[in-house]
Formats: sequence, structure tokens, C-alpha cells
Amino acid sequence: MITTRPIILSVISFLFLCGCSDSAPQTDSTDGEKLYGLYCETCHKSDGSGKFLKGIPANRYTSLQKDQVIMLIRQGDPSRPDMPTFTNLTEEQASAIADYLFSLKIY
Ligand code: HEC
Repeated sequence: MITTRPIILSVISFLFLCGCSDSAPQTDSTDGEKLYGLYCETCHKSDGSGKFLKGIPANRYTSLQKDQVIMLIRQGDPSRPDMPTFTNLTEEQASAIADYLFSLKIY
């Protein structure tokens, strides 16, 4: 059985880190690479390979379509409850992140 404890711990420490730095970083940038670095890289790593030991999947291999990734980022996906939502990001920003994410895919 795979324990979910490391995931919970990493989510808690992530939230804690955000709390310390005042608030989640805010930016108007629509540069996917930059946004990915700000919001996604801490968990999924800069190359999108994830952190297996912490239960974070390699998001570059996601089977989700672009629209679904945008939904996942901004509103969450009930079938992926361990992924945090980023309600502060605009549709345009989430779309830029999704484009960047797909560019990381290695075929
Ligand atoms: C706090 C850590 C964390 C951060 C930050 C994070 N994710 Fe995730 N992500 C997860 C976890 C954990 C899952 C697995 C969710 C589940 O299965 O419940 C996941 C799942 C995903 C998936 C689905 C992968 C699949 O199974 O197909 C995608 C796509 C994804 N994340 C993209 C992103 C993007 C884009 C960002 C930045 C906006 C981001 N994530 C930020 C932890 C994180």
C-alpha cells in the first residue's frame, strides 16, 4: 500500500512556506516558463519529472488535454485532490503554463 503521508507533509510544508513569505507570489506575467518556475517547479521540478518519493507525478507526461490542465490549475480536479489550486492565476496565465508544460514533454 502506498502511504499518502509524504504528500500531506509536503503540502503542509509548502503551505507553511507560503505563509512565511507573506503571500503566494503575485505577478501579471504571462511568460509560461517564468510562471511555471514560480508556481509549479517546487513540486514538479523544473523539467516536469516530479518527485516520485514525495508522491508528486511527472506532470510533463500528463494525459490531460490543455483545457483540463487549465482547469486543474485554476479550479482543481476532484480526481486529483492532492494538487493545490491557484485561484489567483488568470485563464491566460494558466494557458501559458500549460503550453510551457507541454513543451517539456519528451517523446
Ligand atoms: C504542492 C505541490 C504541487 C504544486 C505546487 C503543483 N502541483 Fe501539480 N500535482 C501535485 C500532486 C501531488 C499531484 C497529484 C494529484 C493527485 O493525484 O491527487 C499533481 C498533479 C498534477 C498534474 C496531473 C498529472 C497527471 O497525473 O496526469 C498536472 C498536469 C499538474 N499537477 C500540473 C501542475 C502545474 C501546471 C502546476 C503549477 C501551476 C502544479 N502542478 C503545481 C502537486 C503539486
